[in-house]
Amino acid sequence: MSLQNLSPAWSHLTEIVVDHAEGIYLYDAQGHRYIDFTSGIGVTSTGHCHPNVVRAIQEQASKLIFAQVNCAIPPQTLELAETLLPLMPKGIDCFFFSNSGAEAIEGAVKLAKTATGRPNVIAFQGSFHGRTALAMALTSSKTTYRVGYQPLPSGVFFAPFPYAYRYGWSEDEAVDFCLRELDLLLHTQTAPHETAAILIEPVLGEGGYVPAPPRFLQALRQICDEHGMLLILDEIQSGFGRTGEFWAHTRSGITPDVLIMAKGIASGMPMSAIAAPRNLMEKWQVGAHGGTYGGGNAVVMAAAIATVKTIQQENLVANAREMGEYLKDGLTELEGRFPVIGDVRGWGLMVATEFVKDGQPSADLTKAVSKASLERNLMLLTCGSYANVIRWIPPLVVNRAQIDESLHIFNDALESVLS
Ligand SMILES: Cc1ncc(COP(=O)(O)O)c(C=O)c1O
Repeated sequence: MSLQNLSPAWSHLTEIVVDHAEGIYLYDAQGHRYIDFTSGIGVTSTGHCHPNVVRAIQEQASKLIFAQVNCAIPPQTLELAETLLPLMPKGIDCFFFSNSGAEAIEGAVKLAKTATGRPNVIAFQGSFHGRTALAMALTSSKTTYRVGYQPLPSGVFFAPFPYAYRYGWSEDEAVDFCLRELDLLLHTQTAPHETAAILIEPVLGEGGYVPAPPRFLQALRQICDEHGMLLILDEIQSGFGRTGEFWAHTRSGITPDVLIMAKGIASGMPMSAIAAPRNLMEKWQVGAHGGTYGGGNAVVMAAAIATVKTIQQENLVANAREMGEYLKDGLTELEGRFPVIGDVRGWGLMVATEFVKDGQPSADLTKAVSKASLERNLMLLTCGSYANVIRWIPPLVVNRAQIDESLHIFNDALESVLS
């Protein structure tokens, strides 16, 4: 088998050809076992091939695979909405299902523009919202995602994200600075009355795994209320228990106008959703948004229902919180021994180790440590605008012994790179 016939546009952390997978492990055809601490970029939260999800997919596939939602409605689509409802922030009771994160982001921005009659959106420095044209325009985590495609759709303005460690400030100083800059943006580039929405990841993902301080999200809520702008939260990576809360934003006590979800929602089946109050969704004329597959694939819906129920039945949110603390403690201990780890941060099982050399971001070191971990069969992804962050994002089913094994490998990898 060769990669020759696959587009070289895909970057590859590894060229492992996976034969099968279970829990936190991937296996190749030769039986080599890999610890998957990428979760397929935050997707396989219930672990690979969770029996509940496998059963739901198998049973559904023999009964109904697809009923295009404009033509006929699979009962699983209605059941998923009912299953998600109790987990929604107050007032949010209506869903638009689609396939990918980017598609849901674009849909949410379309909704915000239609609902407010305003053209502009504010996003944040370091944001990642996807690869389609408008999602790319809303993305600023790396130039790689934009080079060669600009000019992109207009009406997008970036404000700084309170990334305290990068600024070398306390969290409060970073929040104060970012709020001042946001205010300046609203006075100089996009007037409030032409700004439809503020779009933010409650935990900056690709941009470096930086949680937004609760005071910052609270201030955004207030600014949106004051000016009639919508607050759209992108919980595509941080949702479904990843941060030790079902939604990362609940740590700040705010309620969004629109919540976007994907990744962890269906254990690997392609699926995303825009959630908003019914009266906001009603601002969309019939036919104003759509798509062939969204909401119509009963197998995907069944996988999502099984995923949500499994997260609840197996207390995976609590496990993410507990294991996240355990992982962070272990990494903090390594930070004490290896000064190249400049910062350990994160919520739940969305944890970052940021690498620095002589006080500067070090992509080389980060890459070397990730490679050395991989040589020891531990898969770890990097992130960050300077590619100097290793992100820890294991399936939410991970246990202490598995974290111990991974920390042990990481310690060896660090020693080998730094010796
Ligand atoms: C926070 C966030 N938003 C949006 C996206 C885009 O999702 P997709 O790749 O499914 O289009 C991602 C993907 O990594 C993401 O992490």
